Amino acid sequence: MKFAALAAALAVSALCLPAATTVKKGDYGKMPDGTPVAIYTLTNGALEARIITYGGILVSMKTPDRKGVAGDIVLGHDDLAGYMGDKGTYFGALIGRYANRIAHGAFTLNGAAYKLAKNNGENALHGGLAGFNSRVWAAREVPGGVELSYTSKDGEEGYPGTLKAVVTYLLTTNSLQLHYTATTDKATVVNLTNHSYWNLRGDGDILNNLLTINSDRYTPVDAGLIPTGELKSVAGTPFDFRKPTAVGARIAQNDPQLQLGHGYDHNWILNKSGKGPELAARVDDPASGRFLEVYTDQPGIQFYTGNFLDGTVKGKGGKPALLHAALCLETQHYPDSPNKPSFPTTELKPGAKYDTTTEFRFGTR
Ligand code: GLA
Repeated sequence: MKFAALAAALAVSALCLPAATTVKKGDYGKMPDGTPVAIYTLTNGALEARIITYGGILVSMKTPDRKGVAGDIVLGHDDLAGYMGDKGTYFGALIGRYANRIAHGAFTLNGAAYKLAKNNGENALHGGLAGFNSRVWAAREVPGGVELSYTSKDGEEGYPGTLKAVVTYLLTTNSLQLHYTATTDKATVVNLTNHSYWNLRGDGDILNNLLTINSDRYTPVDAGLIPTGELKSVAGTPFDFRKPTAVGARIAQNDPQLQLGHGYDHNWILNKSGKGPELAARVDDPASGRFLEVYTDQPGIQFYTGNFLDGTVKGKGGKPALLHAALCLETQHYPDSPNKPSFPTTELKPGAKYDTTTEFRFGTR
């Protein structure tokens, strides 16, 4: 082949074949009962995601800044002991069986009453005392990523039905995709999410980040952060992120909802045009030039500004995780849906499949 033709062929193949994701498995220590915990490193071009089988936690996400310098943009701990000892932040974890709150740790489903642990004041939060975030998931490498599986027993943490959950993390040239599926042998409620704490600058606080949320309404809460049931317009409130707005611009306003949340800790109702994943939120960090876009097919997103971080929890390198050190964008069904018949249902019936996708896209500008 002549040089020009060869060069052209190479150029075409470089265009058509994006860098493939490589997957590497390593050891991440052992649980007290000896169960090994593995770490999977996914690399694709300039992106690197590291996931552990304990809690399915995204322990690091490296992306380049506008100068091309790679940095870790999620909060976390240095080792397994750090994650196991942290009962309150849920850094990077997969949350289930029910992400977010269920009022009074109780719900009825098809006439049967179920009781959950009240691990957040009067309410149940993030799947209970030992939710999916603290379980060791089975894992296998799949093309482009890692597939994690966890079977939650009938009655575990008070929830009915044996739930088989499978979550796949896939890394592409510009994104991290999460595919969640679950099946059950008895009617149950399911709400799975990932609880990553994003700091696109990799340091400091997130108050200067510009946030956009594709939402006209949110679900106001009571003092226990349980939705009141109202779907409130964001217009004219500090909850209006329909245009890019600094996270900190209105966070200290004298607004009863911000006071109840100690900042933002609310569920936005996503504007939808179809059933597939759509742009739910975007974060722009002017300092690093990084941006993050969240695509999902879920009906809601919890935007949380790390209001409970007060330095008590030490993160990577022993650095205290301070107030507003990161923000969470937890794609989800609305909190307390099992007790709110007017909200989209979170019931999963035997024979049906829970199947949802969230994608975190990374870039710079
Ligand atoms: C969610 C909740 C917050 C808080 C964090 C974890 O975002 O809505 O209130 O519990 O998880 O600390």
